[in-house]
Amino acid sequence: MKFKTEILYKTMLAATFIAATVMSSATMANEKQSGDFGRGAKAWVDNCGRCHNVRDPKELRDDQWISTAFHMRLRAGLTGQQTRDILTFLQGSN
Ligand code: HEC
Repeated sequence: MKFKTEILYKTMLAATFIAATVMSSATMANEKQSGDFGRGAKAWVDNCGRCHNVRDPKELRDDQWISTAFHMRLRAGLTGQQTRDILTFLQGSN
């Protein structure tokens, strides 16, 4: 009886561990590939109005924002992640 409880307990621990590992690696993969809308909105406010008026997301189409975002990445000295976040925000708001 005690033995069975122990096996059940260990199995549950293992299952929890595997689930947590799978979930955290999925989150990491997601962040690598794409930007985060909320972080992008903040980075946009913080960075994109430094040199000129902050540009409205509606000013350009999704495909146009790609080249402009990477053009402005160089001007503003942003990281790749910040640029992807801002791009996600701009494309999600126009
Ligand atoms: C370090 C200064 C600086 C920062 C920061 C900056 N820009 Fe610019 N931006 C410029 C300059 C200078 C131009 C004029 C075009 C050129 O010569 O690059 C420009 C032009 C633009 C244009 C006109 C189209 C184009 O590609 O020329 C857009 C749209 C734009 N910026 C959006 C943004 C966004 C979005 C951000 C934030 C990610 C940003 N800018 C941050 C300096 C900056």
